[in-house]
Amino acid sequence: MLHIRGLTKAYGEHEVLRGVNLEAKAGEIVGLLGPNGAGKTTLVSIVAGLRRADAGHATVAGIDALAHPERARAVLGLAPQELGIYPVLSVEQNLGFFAELSGLTGKKLRGRVANVAEALDLTELLRQKAGTLSGGQKRRLHTAMALVNEPTVLFLDEPTVGADVRTRNQILEVVRQRAATGCAIVYTSHYLTEIEDLGATVAVLEAGRIIARGPLADLVAEHGSPALRLTFEGSAPALDGFEIAGSVATLLTPDPAHAAAMILGHLNGSTERLRSVDIVRPSLEAAYLALTGRRSNEDATAKTEEVIDELVA
Ligand SMILES: Nc1ncnc2c1ncn2[C@@H]1O[C@H](COP(=O)(O)OP(=O)(O)O)[C@@H](O)[C@H]1O
Ligand SMILES: [Mg+2]
Repeated sequence: MLHIRGLTKAYGEHEVLRGVNLEAKAGEIVGLLGPNGAGKTTLVSIVAGLRRADAGHATVAGIDALAHPERARAVLGLAPQELGIYPVLSVEQNLGFFAELSGLTGKKLRGRVANVAEALDLTELLRQKAGTLSGGQKRRLHTAMALVNEPTVLFLDEPTVGADVRTRNQILEVVRQRAATGCAIVYTSHYLTEIEDLGATVAVLEAGRIIARGPLADLVAEHGSPALRLTFEGSAPALDGFEIAGSVATLLTPDPAHAAAMILGHLNGSTERLRSVDIVRPSLEAAYLALTGRRSNEDATAKTEEVIDELVA
């Protein structure tokens, strides 16, 4: 449904995409991950016709999206990273405007607006000015605008940033529903648990290329090491082979239960301060960190720090 081949893009001297290949099948949700600045928004914007590629190909539902962006627009939905609602228009007018842009009119347009409003719990708000909505309601409207033309290929660029729990769950539910009807979805997010919840396949974009691609379970099995985590009151003691961060000592090991049995008898003076023993299963977080590297932490931006905060929380 979506084929991207050899896509390259530079901003001046800065090469952001260096030959990106990516495919998505009908009904597939692709979790597009990558550190802040990796080029996710650039990639999505090019395929959606908002920016120009330097080289490469992209087709959506068989349409050459780079040569015929206006034709691609009819089958494609995009919720850009930046909130794109018109504050002085009502919710209904915002949705209607986007429906018109993709060529819908009359009864069909009104039907689509009503459906998407229902799906994202906006029906009661249709006459309200978008500018007066709460943050979560704005987020839902923003996503609804990408869905109103019932696209066959959908791009959602960080759709849940700043959303409350209820809004986030509603958006995730709608994404699952659309995938179930055969829509191919590219979903970028910094919340790795969302990718897990969506049952998405994963594509990791780094340094201008897709460095890992596949079913989540495969990536986790290949790159996400299990670990033993000991939490102490006060600072964790120095333990051989463990990584120490404040009160937490972590050992990456294929057999954390065995390691726990070995180590617990040898904590000596620290035994009294031990507060919890956790066997950490391989997760997408662990795989993601292994792939994109703790090495990038030094220049980590607020967003990648957010990922790590989530990990530690
Ligand atoms: N319009 C632009 N002009 C110049 N540089 C840009 C522009 N848009 C993005 N960039 C740069 O390109 C890189 C990738 O940005 P972006 O696609 O937004 O990444 P992501 O969405 O993965 O965070 C960043 O280094 C960013 O600063
Ligand atoms: Mg982005």
